[in-house]
Amino acid sequence: MSKSVLVALRGVSFAYEDGPPVFTGLDFEVREGRALALLGRNGSGKTTLMRLLSGGLRPRGGELLLSGRAVRHDRKGLTTLRTTVQLVVQDPDDQLFAASVEQDVSFGPLNLGLPDAEVRARVAEALEALDIAALADRPTHLLSYGQRKRTAIAGAVAMRPRVLILDEPTAGLDPDGQERLLATLDGLRAAGTTVVMATHDVDLALRWADDAALLTPSGAHTGPAEETLSRRDLLAASGLRLPWGVAAGLFLRARGPAADDTAPAPRTPEELVALLGQQPPQL
Ligand SMILES: Nc1ncnc2c1ncn2[C@@H]1O[C@H](COP(=O)(O)OP(=O)(O)OP(=O)(O)O)[C@@H](O)[C@H]1O
Ligand SMILES: [Mg+2]
Repeated sequence: MSKSVLVALRGVSFAYEDGPPVFTGLDFEVREGRALALLGRNGSGKTTLMRLLSGGLRPRGGELLLSGRAVRHDRKGLTTLRTTVQLVVQDPDDQLFAASVEQDVSFGPLNLGLPDAEVRARVAEALEALDIAALADRPTHLLSYGQRKRTAIAGAVAMRPRVLILDEPTAGLDPDGQERLLATLDGLRAAGTTVVMATHDVDLALRWADDAALLTPSGAHTGPAEETLSRRDLLAASGLRLPWGVAAGLFLRARGPAADDTAPAPRTPEELVALLGQQPPQL
């Protein structure tokens, strides 16, 4: 049975002021518990789509649905949306504004009018989840880029959203920082948060996501990650190349050395070695 749809756009049209249409009649769904990677070329509308899903932009036509109910873009409707869906923008400097890390992360929960003890518990939990508890008292403007990025994500996590939407969260992080962020997101997923991520990295999307959505001029195409990221027509329309693991899987199956013909495409060097039916070397 398909997982329930938490947030959706139905027949949404949107254009920025004086700009050409970005979307016309767009349908898009975020399913509960399915990690979703959003891909598309520069200017294809990933950021715009995420802002429409989180209520920052209002559709010109069509509607935003939360658990099947149309969201009204008034104070009450948007507050309900904000407690369910949280967006982390690409540039942490567009999100952080308070003097210290702790103050910044507290802002959302305080604004919800939660009791102090609840705010403290949420902030502690979010700082812990992002591995930045030691930075709690530091001024945000003195942090490194990766630390600011984690602080911005902690601010969203402290709202305990059911859907966490991240706009290119791994951009600008070093390899270890990317791995740590993915591990953090895995922890949030295991705790029941539905995570949506925009990325240009097809290999990361294949490895991380359950589903992938490709934004092409003909609309959004969403499906299981390996299947969608194997579609050469969609990839070409999105200015993306075949993920390395999909290419390796195709090659190995064509050549015949695969130990298991039905195995999914390898997503990591370890999975590639397993597909070859060998003992993994020390990688
Ligand atoms: N604030 C804005 N005002 C006017 N036009 C905008 C604004 N933001 C984006 N656009 C336009 O809307 C379209 C979609 O942009 P968007 O930022 O959503 O793309 P994107 O897929 O996130 O791109 P990128 O990969 O570069 O981040 C582009 O044509 C862009 O020029
Ligand atoms: Mg963008």
